[in-house]
Amino acid sequence: MTDKPTYLGLLNAIANAEGDAECYLGAWAATTSRDDVRQVIATVALREGEHAKAFAKRMCELGFDLQPRSDPKLDEKMSIATSTELSDREKFERLQAGRGVEQGDIFSTMFNDVSIDIQTGALLGRYIAEERDSGRLLHGCYSALCAESDGAAPAAANGAANGSAVAALSERLDHIETLLTQLVSAKGSKK
Ligand SMILES: [Fe+2]
Repeated sequence: MTDKPTYLGLLNAIANAEGDAECYLGAWAATTSRDDVRQVIATVALREGEHAKAFAKRMCELGFDLQPRSDPKLDEKMSIATSTELSDREKFERLQAGRGVEQGDIFSTMFNDVSIDIQTGALLGRYIAEERDSGRLLHGCYSALCAESDGAAPAAANGAANGSAVAALSERLDHIETLLTQLVSAKGSKK
């Protein structure tokens, strides 16, 4: 019997959560009437599905089976995702999908376990980078929808224009993040 890695529970939790997210995000992508929203949600849904498979595969390679865990909130999330009554903005809010990094980064402690093997570490690193990027994509899309509905920005005339608004917002967030990082390191070096 293979020794059980201490991080097996983490791999199992990620595989289950990502599989659930693929379900409800995929359902949302199939329901939305907007091409720009679909493009973002479908991209993230595909990433989630690939993560679910990759982590289940890694568990298998390590000699363990995926232990399915059912999320008691999955049914509720599915009905939000497939609703034709709720707007995309409301879906972001109900599913808590458009939160920015200021709400906390759940990934920063995942490498605390120093026994993580090289192959799992590489998978985990790619996963974290993609999740953070997905977070930026979702937050950018949500911010663009809020700007439209609050009248802070004119409603874009077509999907291409909406797409560029999302890209511009994402770029701005990245820029702010870079400036904050520079500020923190400048402060640190003055000490
Ligand atoms: Fe995810």
